[in-house]
Amino acid sequence: MGVAALDPRTDLFPNVKGWDALRDYDLEATTLWDFPAQSPGTTEFGDHRFNGVTPSPLVMNLVRRYTRTGDLVVDAMAGSGTALDVARALGRRALAFDLAPRRPDIVRNDARRLPLPDESVDLHFVDPPYSDNVRYSDDPACVGRLPCGEDAFLESLEAVARELHRTLKPGRVLGWLISDEYRRGRFTPVGFLTFEMLGKYFEPVDVISVARHHDRSGNPMWEHRARRYGFYLRGFKYLFIVRKPSTQVLEGRFE
Ligand SMILES: C[S@@+](CC[C@H](N)C(=O)[O-])C[C@H]1O[C@@H](n2cnc3c(N)ncnc32)[C@H](O)[C@@H]1O
Repeated sequence: MGVAALDPRTDLFPNVKGWDALRDYDLEATTLWDFPAQSPGTTEFGDHRFNGVTPSPLVMNLVRRYTRTGDLVVDAMAGSGTALDVARALGRRALAFDLAPRRPDIVRNDARRLPLPDESVDLHFVDPPYSDNVRYSDDPACVGRLPCGEDAFLESLEAVARELHRTLKPGRVLGWLISDEYRRGRFTPVGFLTFEMLGKYFEPVDVISVARHHDRSGNPMWEHRARRYGFYLRGFKYLFIVRKPSTQVLEGRFE
């Protein structure tokens, strides 16, 4: 089977015939990522109906770039389980936690205290709430109950960052997805604030801009209001790729 006969968006499994031929040409090569659908093809990773779901090709890019088969991938705020499904499909070990688990294979847990030993994780991915715009659960510990303009919001994110840092192996990578907020005339640069906070614990690898699609505000009524009242709808999220400092530098691709 030649490369032309393979669909890089659906042939995700490491044992697929022709994997060697595929190699890595379908990985994202620039800092602008725009995925047409939450999951490619007919296979579902996570639940595309879940409010705030992560695009699964985003996680695929991180897992394939920064881990090897058998490595441990952790999502401390797993939602519908996108990262768990992707990591397993790619032959990685995977653990998923959430305050409000929506599946039996997601463990109920607060991301600020992970039941994991120090330096045990090969890749952390996290897509936390970026304000109180979505009601994920009634649990008072839910970060999504805090407006991003309050100090307590960033303090909660920092407590998560400290725990991800504690459990990540030195030299390994954290992917952190987040958006800014514009609400009722006020812009809060949640992305910049988060990136600055992450810099206390991690070293930067890169910043990716991820196009947003299918959000509830992505409709003609909101577009009209944005033009009429002089504000902008969020068109992208930040994906911060950061590394836990290590004396031993891990070079190159892993896969
Ligand atoms: C944006 S969603 C994650 C989406 C997920 N990546 C997916 O693809 O479905 C954020 C999640 O963070 C969870 N969450 C909020 N506060 C939390 C906390 N303190 N500890 C663990 N999970 C938390 C929410 O319950 C919600 O499921």
